[in-house]
Amino acid sequence: MHHIIYGSRATQPLSDDDLLTLLLQARSHNQLHGISGALVYSNGQFMQVIEGEEEVLAALYERLLRDPRHTQLVKYADKAIAERSFSEWSMAFQPVSEAQFAGLLGYLPARHFASTAPELGRADGLLLSMMKELVSEPLA
Ligand SMILES: Cc1cc2nc3c(=O)[nH]c(=O)nc-3n(C[C@H](O)[C@H](O)[C@H](O)COP(=O)(O)O)c2cc1C
Repeated sequence: MHHIIYGSRATQPLSDDDLLTLLLQARSHNQLHGISGALVYSNGQFMQVIEGEEEVLAALYERLLRDPRHTQLVKYADKAIAERSFSEWSMAFQPVSEAQFAGLLGYLPARHFASTAPELGRADGLLLSMMKELVSEPLA
């Protein structure tokens, strides 16, 4: 099992309808390809965790890079993991406040690819539990 965590910026403001279209498309593809994960959105910024087989995620990331709806993709993690954190979600989604998004950024590892070990480092673990909390809690 593998995960990729990345952040990006929307190229244009996305309406609720745009986000819903994106999400439905992502979920149906992910379900077919054994991908799970979570996506948070705040004021034009995305952070996403995708989990699945390494080659499947690499192919998805290539498509994400070419998607004109967002830009400035920055990969924070790309590594083997012992288990999924979002196994029940083909793509959990949560719009969050700017403060919540800033909080997430604070959990990012100081250096990208800080660790390639499948055991979650402290920063990875905190980021994932924060994402989990956000997707299971309403906007604060
Ligand atoms: C922020 C963001 C997150 C996305 N997440 C996913 C995803 O989890 N799974 C997925 O299949 N597509 C996702 N997409 C859509 C892909 O970028 C792409 O449009 C889709 O996979 C269809 O690709 P294709 O038109 O080359 O077939 C996402 C797009 C954006 C902008």
